[in-house]
Amino acid sequence: MDLPLLKKSVAIGLVCDKGGVSKTTTALHLASWLAKISHRHEYGWRVLLVDMDPQATAASTLSCQPEPPALEQSLGRLLVDTKADPLSFPRSSPWRPETLFYIPSSPETMETAIPALLRMPNADLRLRALAAKLSAAYQVIVFDSGGRVSDLLVRNVGFASTHLIIPANADWFGYEGLSRTVRWQADIGDSLAGLGLTPPQLLGVLLSHVRTNVGNSEETVSRTRALLGDAVFETMIPFTIMFADAISRGQDVFSFGVSSPAAKAVNQLGLEVLQRVVQSQA
Ligand SMILES: Nc1ncnc2c1ncn2[C@@H]1O[C@H](COP(=O)(O)OP(=O)(O)OP(=O)(O)O)[C@@H](O)[C@H]1O
Ligand SMILES: [Mg+2]
Repeated sequence: MDLPLLKKSVAIGLVCDKGGVSKTTTALHLASWLAKISHRHEYGWRVLLVDMDPQATAASTLSCQPEPPALEQSLGRLLVDTKADPLSFPRSSPWRPETLFYIPSSPETMETAIPALLRMPNADLRLRALAAKLSAAYQVIVFDSGGRVSDLLVRNVGFASTHLIIPANADWFGYEGLSRTVRWQADIGDSLAGLGLTPPQLLGVLLSHVRTNVGNSEETVSRTRALLGDAVFETMIPFTIMFADAISRGQDVFSFGVSSPAAKAVNQLGLEVLQRVVQSQA
């Protein structure tokens, strides 16, 4: 496989103003794919998944532990303790111990952290400051997010990302969430440009939960492509039980079923993501 070379570190945020659109599933699998192919590149890279969703689904999936992390080891503390060293927080993941790392989170620690973060100056930019330090050791950072785009943590993801992916389910409700998120991304860009900072680029809209021969699904796909053109990834993620099955066994779809349609779709998405990132860095 001829892999393009990353010229600079990247921070990819998964955001959508709609729940259940595969943000976490995509964040986990994209991070795992990027970690999987890292050794195929002459320089290699280390991937860090930062779980910015207070529900902490991504981090608890990776840690394979039902127990929440203690406050002192968690993202909640890192966000509010300006003296903490961010590079001491990432943990090696059981999925890919040498190349995939994560910073754990939990509903309890985030509940304490969010009011404290709100009182901090530049609360929206806190994750951006942390990402700048983390990128010294992690060439690829992936942010999972949860909740509405107006939430403080999601705004932090918008301000900290170099690139954004907007997953959207191929149905009417997914389409509405997508429109709101595209407007939010433009607002985030304006705010950052106003501060003299580089805004995140939209890497692509990812159509997920795609069903063939279902009118609603096919119509949403063609409508989204007609409206957003090249901003939509060519890759679409099919509706399949494989993701839930793999994750419920503490695995990614590559370990669970490497030749499954799910694994093939993520593989294709990973290549498209890498190509688009490298193009944006040219
Ligand atoms: N391609 C797919 N086909 C079918 N089910 C899927 C697919 N991708 C994800 N799912 C399932 O859909 C549900 C929502 O996925 P996921 O948790 O990744 O979405 P999310 O956007 O992170 O949700 P939330 O807003 O709650 O954080 C999960 O049960 C997941 O297993
Ligand atoms: Mg999620």
